[in-house]
Amino acid sequence: MGNAFENKTFVITGGSSGIGRATALMLDRKGATVFTCGRNEEKLSELKKYSKNIFVFKENLSSEKGISEFANKILSFGAEINGFVHSAGVIYTEPFDTFRKHELEEMLEVNVKSGFYLLQKLLPKFPETGGSAVFVSSIDAYFGAVNPPSAGYALSKGALISLTNALASELGTRNIRVNAVVPGLIRTKMTEDFFTDEFSEERKKFLSRVPLGRAGTAEEVAKLILFLLSDDSSYISGNAIFIDGGYHVR
Ligand SMILES: NC(=O)c1ccc[n+]([C@@H]2O[C@H](COP(=O)([O-])OP(=O)(O)OC[C@H]3O[C@@H](n4cnc5c(N)ncnc54)[C@H](OP(=O)(O)O)[C@@H]3O)[C@@H](O)[C@H]2O)c1
Repeated sequence: MGNAFENKTFVITGGSSGIGRATALMLDRKGATVFTCGRNEEKLSELKKYSKNIFVFKENLSSEKGISEFANKILSFGAEINGFVHSAGVIYTEPFDTFRKHELEEMLEVNVKSGFYLLQKLLPKFPETGGSAVFVSSIDAYFGAVNPPSAGYALSKGALISLTNALASELGTRNIRVNAVVPGLIRTKMTEDFFTDEFSEERKKFLSRVPLGRAGTAEEVAKLILFLLSDDSSYISGNAIFIDGGYHVR
């Protein structure tokens, strides 16, 4: 990838933790400028300390206000934007029969709509030469979140695949590539409970279905995201790429 990222600017949602954080740090190390957001002030300031080229904003993407504020703050810098990564996400697990409305709404707001509206607001800042957008979906889009169940999460992650297809088709003429990454089990804050003793049986069962036999790391996903943001993937658009240790073939 060489210096493909030097002097380029990327917007990443959910940079305070996990996959978004790993992506922000990797881009920074390669010389890019990064605008990112999250809700956890402590984690955001910890991230900020790494580099003067990572700009962090405390924003809640579950509301239109938070989305607009984040977009306006980025736009006020006037920088050209070369890529967008939507990694912010939440999960609530609950059987379908009793799924709570406010939890479904929050997952749709954060996981789907904030990515939709942010990219829409940032699009005028993409250069004429184009750019790349990456949505972080999940294997649950294809196989459902089963144990514990979450039809709402699966719905939100499936919507990102549809959005990826639609935008790859619509924005291609502007040389903007749009792809999704489809992680399996990745060890982050979101999945920390699954790595406790309480879930050892469920974890064993899940990992027995993973050909590589282990969970992935945020850095492994970040490397795939960087590939999709770089010119090395210049003819790849409208793809949803599994990064799941082979889970999807079993
Ligand atoms: N870990 C996995 O196994 C896995 C598998 C498949 C897909 N994914 C997806 O990967 C993405 C990243 O998750 P992760 O595993 O890296 O989990 P994580 O460490 O919990 O990171 C989630 C990020 O989303 C941000 N976020 C959540 N709600 C937000 C809100 N209302 N406003 C602004 N930011 C918000 C969090 O910010 P704060 O913490 O600062 O609030 C955090 O930065 C998510 O979309 C997740 O669905 C994860």
